[in-house]
Amino acid sequence: MKYGFFDNDNREYVITRPDVPAPWTNYLGTEKFCTVISHNAGGYSFYNSPEYNRVTKFRPNASFDRPGHYVYLRDDETGDYWSISWQPVAKSLDEASYEVRHGLSYSKFKCEYNGITATKTLFVPKGEDAEVWDVVIKNTSDKPRTISAFSFVEFSFSHIQSDNQNHQMSLYSAGTEYRNGVIEYDLYYNTNDFEGFYYLASTFDPDSYDGQRDSFLGLYRDEANPIAVEQGQCSNSAQTCYNHCGSLHKQFVIQPGEEVRFAYILGMGKGNGEKLRAKYQDLANLDADFAGIKAHWDERCNKFQVKSPNEGLDTMINAWTLYQAETCVVWSRFASFIEVGGRTGLGYRDTAQDAISVPHANPKMTRKRLVDLLRGQVKAGYGLHLFDPDWFDPEKADVVPSKSPTVVPTPSDEDKIHGIEDTCSDDHLWLVPTICKYVMETGEESFFDEVIPYADGGDATVYEHMKAALDFSAEYVGNTGICKGLRADWNDCLNLGGGESSMVSFLHYWALQEFIDLAKHLGKTDDIDTYSTMAEGVRQACETHLWDDEGGWYIRGLTKNGDKIGTAQQTEGKIHLESNTLAVLSGAVSQERGERAMDSVDEHLYSPYGLHLNSPSFATPNDDIGFVTRVYQGVKENGAIFSHPNPWAWVAEAKLGRGDQAMKFYDALNPYNQNDMIETRIAEPYSYVQFIMGRDHQDHGRANHPWLTGTSGWAYFAVTNFMLGVRTGFEGLTVDPCIPTAWPGFEVTRQWRGATYKITVQNPNNVSKGVQSITVNGEAIEGAIPVQAEGSINDIIVILG
Ligand code: IFM
Repeated sequence: MKYGFFDNDNREYVITRPDVPAPWTNYLGTEKFCTVISHNAGGYSFYNSPEYNRVTKFRPNASFDRPGHYVYLRDDETGDYWSISWQPVAKSLDEASYEVRHGLSYSKFKCEYNGITATKTLFVPKGEDAEVWDVVIKNTSDKPRTISAFSFVEFSFSHIQSDNQNHQMSLYSAGTEYRNGVIEYDLYYNTNDFEGFYYLASTFDPDSYDGQRDSFLGLYRDEANPIAVEQGQCSNSAQTCYNHCGSLHKQFVIQPGEEVRFAYILGMGKGNGEKLRAKYQDLANLDADFAGIKAHWDERCNKFQVKSPNEGLDTMINAWTLYQAETCVVWSRFASFIEVGGRTGLGYRDTAQDAISVPHANPKMTRKRLVDLLRGQVKAGYGLHLFDPDWFDPEKADVVPSKSPTVVPTPSDEDKIHGIEDTCSDDHLWLVPTICKYVMETGEESFFDEVIPYADGGDATVYEHMKAALDFSAEYVGNTGICKGLRADWNDCLNLGGGESSMVSFLHYWALQEFIDLAKHLGKTDDIDTYSTMAEGVRQACETHLWDDEGGWYIRGLTKNGDKIGTAQQTEGKIHLESNTLAVLSGAVSQERGERAMDSVDEHLYSPYGLHLNSPSFATPNDDIGFVTRVYQGVKENGAIFSHPNPWAWVAEAKLGRGDQAMKFYDALNPYNQNDMIETRIAEPYSYVQFIMGRDHQDHGRANHPWLTGTSGWAYFAVTNFMLGVRTGFEGLTVDPCIPTAWPGFEVTRQWRGATYKITVQNPNNVSKGVQSITVNGEAIEGAIPVQAEGSINDIIVILG
């Protein structure tokens, strides 16, 4: 079943039926103020952290996505009322029609009902700590209409998200006031005029208002039938204590064919409500700020655009996958409809992997995240698994506790720096390729010399930090020389402790290769020798201890007792995705074993929805392997289609030169291809999800946890760098695609270091891989394309064969 379509010209997904089987969400905000919003306008806002600067409330895990950021309309002649978004009033779809356009950092809701067409566009203007609702109401009937509009948001009780559930003081610690068209909401322990000071303003002069939620909703009612809307008038409530909302009401008389336009503004900071109310009374400012959001994404997306025979790939790469990846880089993992702000901070491995995908589109944020991660690395070389970057930011050291002294804990050193027993064995290694990629993109070679403190004291250059990461993994190995599993590796539920993880050794090998290339580039002869020797040791250990010849694949690891995990002999957890894909991706294994391993992946792990993480699922608890053996079968890390490592398989196939296989795996996971099977997928078709129920679960194919997954970053990186094969290097741009044999070619426009590269790849001989010739502006070259002059536009022709 289909609920909408991709509008590629506008980079929007258009929902034409609002009764989708789950809320389909979007992210508004490109800087500090963020709203997670559904196609029903349900959702919540926060500033910087969804845990500590919560602006509006949300009830997670309810069957409704409420409350939200609503506009109600009421026909004041009949008393009939509805909402511009389908929910919460939910008019029958036989009498009202709804359309939702989720765009890049905006969502536009449209409703046609009974001779009134209304739209509401939500976005967060750049440079403002506020969300603007641009509302247009048009009378399409042939008689004058008297229409009332009401806003509704429910303010968060506190800075702290969890206080909304479990802190009775919250009921008595805040209050609303109405002043000049603005409902102001203030938390009494607020220590400045910004955090904890929220408002809802309108560009019109309101006829009535409510700051008290229960005055607006009425007793024993909810957002579907607020008493204020039913009666056509708010009760002008504003006071301290209880639950608070922002409702501003205005009645309009609209002539046939006429439209009225106004804005509501939800934001933070004393005085900002009046300021923005004045600003947006000039509607040109609304248009200009919306254009600013469009321009923001045009600039980012235009850094890499592809035109290929695969429309789904083009749609996702040209907009949605980059957008999702950047959402992860900026907002990390704790703001969605699944994670609703119960935690905060950065996951080390997640952030390092997210950041590898966007250095071209957002170099500033990539750099910031790298510095955050380097500050969260300890001298021994490992990273702190989950940490708040503010703990280690000297500029913020004083700011965090003083912002809200009663609520934000100041962590002790013990809280910050955990020991080896709590360390994840893979986290730090992802740093190495990401740092290299950042410098390849920007050319900022001085970054390697920048001195950055360690989390536990002392400091070192970025280059030395990278060495510390590699050295840690060389030291923490088990009896066979394979890296120890420690608390977990990439798989949070594989808790091997002193057991060994093949996935980490292969990752170590990949990071070593990236580092050796860097050392060569920098002419660091000693390091080339040292780390080449280290890499060869890792390679030999992997080939000696990890290959399962009977199965024809690489095992997942060894328990602390030396038992192998993932062999042909086993009946549960026989074969795993991570070890086999990374074996090939890392370059550690031969073509022959690589092909056999990936053939086994295809045979045992493939499904039309993507590749399973392991098969069959574990069914017997075994604490030597970890929590994964206690997770239900076919779910998450135990036998689901876990999306994040799927792109590792695309890279592996691309490295093997098997473009048809790479595309087969890509197409299976691509959400775009599931747009007409939503009854199975359930989740939004424009976002990768964390996992899809595996074949051992009765909901096989159901997609769960959209948006905040490392899949997007890896999907983007895998397609652009390895399948389309357009890769930056320290000295030049490489074009080395691996495509389906049936493709006649494709085109890419890539902006890099100020120049534009218009790349045309032709495939006259129907091969997958292998570059026969390259010309740059008509001149034949060998190898990488040299960096071209800033501002230049360059024609690149690549012939495969
Ligand atoms: O790798 C992890 C990630 O860091 C958080 N989500 C689950 C993944 C697999 O366990």
